Amino acid sequence: MSTVDPAARIAELRRRIGEHNRAYYEDDAPIIPDADYDELVLELRRLEDEHPDLAAALPHPVLDRIGGAPSETFAPVEHRVPMMSLDNAFAVEELDAWALRLERRLEGRPVTHYACELKFDGLAISIRYEHGRLTQAATRGNGRVGEDVTANVSTITNVPKRLTGSAPAVIEARGEVFMPIATFEALNDDLRTRGERTYVNPRNTAAGSLRQKDPAITATRGLAFWAYQIGDIHGGPSFDTHHVTLDFLASLGLPVNPEMRVVTSLDDVKAYIAETHARRHDLPYEIDGAVVKVDELAQQRELGVTAKAPRWAIAYKFPPEEKTTLLRDIQVSIGGKGKATPFAVLEPVFVGGSTVGVATLHNEDQVRIKDVRPGDTVVVRKAGDVIPEVLRPVLEMRPKGLEPWVFPQTCPCPVGHPLTRDGDDAAHYCLNPTCPLQLDGWIEHFASRGAMDIEGFGERTVQLFTQHGLIGDIADIYTLDLDRVRELEGFGEISVNNLAGAIEASKRRPLANLLFGLNIRHMGGAVAELLAAAFGHLDRLAEATEDDLAAVDGVGPVIARTVAEWFADDGNRAIIEKLRAVGLNFEGPMTPDHDVEPVLAGRSVVVSGTLEGYSRDEAAAAIKARGGKSPGSVSKKTFALVVGADPGASKVTKAEEAGVPVLDEAAFGHLLATGELPE
Ligand code: IVH
Repeated sequence: MSTVDPAARIAELRRRIGEHNRAYYEDDAPIIPDADYDELVLELRRLEDEHPDLAAALPHPVLDRIGGAPSETFAPVEHRVPMMSLDNAFAVEELDAWALRLERRLEGRPVTHYACELKFDGLAISIRYEHGRLTQAATRGNGRVGEDVTANVSTITNVPKRLTGSAPAVIEARGEVFMPIATFEALNDDLRTRGERTYVNPRNTAAGSLRQKDPAITATRGLAFWAYQIGDIHGGPSFDTHHVTLDFLASLGLPVNPEMRVVTSLDDVKAYIAETHARRHDLPYEIDGAVVKVDELAQQRELGVTAKAPRWAIAYKFPPEEKTTLLRDIQVSIGGKGKATPFAVLEPVFVGGSTVGVATLHNEDQVRIKDVRPGDTVVVRKAGDVIPEVLRPVLEMRPKGLEPWVFPQTCPCPVGHPLTRDGDDAAHYCLNPTCPLQLDGWIEHFASRGAMDIEGFGERTVQLFTQHGLIGDIADIYTLDLDRVRELEGFGEISVNNLAGAIEASKRRPLANLLFGLNIRHMGGAVAELLAAAFGHLDRLAEATEDDLAAVDGVGPVIARTVAEWFADDGNRAIIEKLRAVGLNFEGPMTPDHDVEPVLAGRSVVVSGTLEGYSRDEAAAAIKARGGKSPGSVSKKTFALVVGADPGASKVTKAEEAGVPVLDEAAFGHLLATGELPE
């Protein structure tokens, strides 16, 4: 940066920030995440501080105008009491520094009470009531002049048109208009089904909704409001503390958020922030931090304000959950069943509290829908414990001539078997049964709990054995050279004997376990049970035609085809023969007219997203076969929501709100088998 001419950099930053201000404040359509914008502003602020002469001489200053120009659509409203902004803290040390500044200004008299609030991620509004009636609502604008959005704010259902209780002659309720997350997702779901462009985030959607020319449109958007401050006031009671002003606003019928907490030490402030951060994604609306205010109004008056913000308050901002970074490449990984999953190789970026270098892109269609291309600058999201996600490219930053990514035709392993796209889901597969990239995953799966249940045959052991050439396929487990195992580090006499015992015991597992262990695409544990019960012997199943298989209740055409194809493959047949030769049990109890128990009688189970073992129809058929229903949406009456890859976010939110259990595919298998929810 030091080699860059500061004048040129200031001009460049001013131009870019100006562009982003227009996109954000005037079009309600941000181009880059807030965190990236904040970085630009921070850099410009630093440069302008270092070079005040340049800052004054160069044209088009932007730092004093953040907040956007008042539009021409809405009449200007001059705020009688300016709507100030807040200073930010991004780390605990900055909070400490703020507290120290307070103490110094108060000449040693400590702040005894802090009011801690959520920092709502919406847009600031001032709502004026005269003699208890809503007379005007205005956006913040540049803090001095905002826009008159009275007609639109009047459509917000939790904003009272008339105050209750003893309303002063004049009172302005300052607060945040926002869009609840479920409302935002429902809106986007709707746009998606109509093939229209979706909105980027609830905050900008709320801003766009509030600035509609037609209030009837605003009325349909389900906006809501939290009051957090009094602006202008005449003829009201006098207050000593901020929290009492909030109680007063609530007594007038204004919505005040219940998460506000008055605390008596900075440590408690920090605890509030930590708790709020941890609960961030449990709230039905978005927050981007916490706001800490000195509670005593006398102290607030003493501390005063700067040109921009009150000294008595600070916004503690959570680490950003969205950042932009370079998409270096898109590569493909091969999973246990040969599934080829594209993933993004990113220029490592610190987001959501950790450094992210790779992120799944799920499948070819997702890459196409998102239209991300190697060389793009992309928006990456890492929210809480959720796996990192590439959201979208920043099209404005796409280099010219960047080609769309093409799914590779062959497996990335040295064998390079062709990858086949399955017609029914968007996934590609490597169908090479001896693919080295799949081998470890398959052996591990074969030995796992739901399959042959071989104790001690976990991921590390499998890797060790394949690396040393002790096993090359699942059947080799049964001819394992125990003397060579003894030579490996970490394998003493006892563990080798235990392993041998576990391997021997696994030979008698029922057919359903063996079938599940064969790792046949789409075949989960529940289908393995159905097939074992219907055919009773591996040989009969191996000889069955696609039609025979599809005739089994609960087995759909997709599974029928993959099972038939699997057994038709010479390599797989050879493995079956090896398993027979080492004496594995191929039989299972057979139920000729396989009747599944109606364990889900009268229950609704909703399925969302892509499951490994079932197509959507097969999952619905399996639920219905057990007497249940499988409707398309979640309600309070839903017994459980089963989620696969990429589930509908609004379904998950709805389920969580309604207290409906959310199950993964393994738990779904359990539910089908027993009718019970896992503990
Ligand atoms: S108080 C004079 N309290 O944060 C103090 N602001 O970054 C004015 N915000 O413009 C603000 N939650 O839009 C306050 N509990 C809260 C808030 C809050 C969100 C917003 C508000 C403000 C911005 C400043």
